[in-house]
Amino acid sequence: MVMIDLSFRFSNRTNEPALSAETALPSPVHRPVLLAEVVEWLDLREGVVIVDGTAGAGGHSGAIADRVGASGRVIALDRDPEMLELAREATEGKPVTLIQSSYADLDRVLDDLELDGVDGILLDLGLSSDQLAWGHRGFSFASDGPLDMRFDPKGHTSAADLVNDLDAEELARIIFEYGEERHSRRIARRIVEARRVEPILTTARLAEVVRKGVPGKWGAIDPATRTFQALRIEVNGELDQLDDLLANVAGYLNPGGRAAIVSFHSLEDRRVKHSFRDDPLLTVLTRKPVTATAEELATNPRARSAKLRVAQRCPDQNGPPNIPTPRSKADR
Ligand SMILES: C[S@@+](CC[C@H](N)C(=O)[O-])C[C@H]1O[C@@H](n2cnc3c(N)ncnc32)[C@H](O)[C@@H]1O
Repeated sequence: MVMIDLSFRFSNRTNEPALSAETALPSPVHRPVLLAEVVEWLDLREGVVIVDGTAGAGGHSGAIADRVGASGRVIALDRDPEMLELAREATEGKPVTLIQSSYADLDRVLDDLELDGVDGILLDLGLSSDQLAWGHRGFSFASDGPLDMRFDPKGHTSAADLVNDLDAEELARIIFEYGEERHSRRIARRIVEARRVEPILTTARLAEVVRKGVPGKWGAIDPATRTFQALRIEVNGELDQLDDLLANVAGYLNPGGRAAIVSFHSLEDRRVKHSFRDDPLLTVLTRKPVTATAEELATNPRARSAKLRVAQRCPDQNGPPNIPTPRSKADR
């Protein structure tokens, strides 16, 4: 098993150390979304090899490992060493190999493991409830913390770097494109004004500045939410990482292997839909995206916007896949 590197770097801007390796992590709060659906659509059997590209707290990896048995294997990746620590606890004793890596570097991971291909790939995009709850990681304004937002604490650029260094036009572009925020220009201007007084280094201060840039009454959602999402996507290059994986996903799969991707906003879902549809080596198995049942929604509000799409690598180059597939809710 590849060792997990827990030697975190200081954020160059906030100068706040991430949690030290010795600090006990709280119990996972993340509940895996669409768990039964993911397990069913991956068509798991004893002995198969599955990549979980976004291990998180290990909920999906653990359930998949139970299905592939001791003769199978789950290769579970995450950019965040603190999440891998939770995944390690959750998958103890199961055939799971944890590796700190981006799923965008899957070719290197498979080379290192001397694997030519795998039978399934899962991505459960975005961030986990644990990361959101950890104030020291700076993903959320719910609790104050350093303005960080890096999945990989050794990554070069934090949210504080973006907010304090980019010009107003570039900030507005990011907030508009990745946050789909119509007040992006006003918010960017407010940020530039505020940082002239004092650098913006904490989540609470950024949230306060952003709120001032949003005119009118607030709806049910805090007006800072879209800007925080946009900065997180930019800090971690999330859409580029997804594009990289999608461009190569068929090549990683063995014939008949499946890719299952859970996305949470339209920027991701559109990419998955179009890429699966346009890849000549893949057949789309989910005519409409699979969404959460009423039962899951009652207990896991995060599942509200989850969309699962699944595609299969043709068993041979000449014909469509012939493995039976579960029916999506839309087909029932
Ligand atoms: C929604 S959570 C996954 C939750 C997981 N399925 C579970 O059951 O606990 C998404 C995870 O993906 C990780 N992540 C985000 N981008 C990544 C990337 N490019 N490569 C690897 N992991 C990534 C995040 O650090 C986070 O832990």
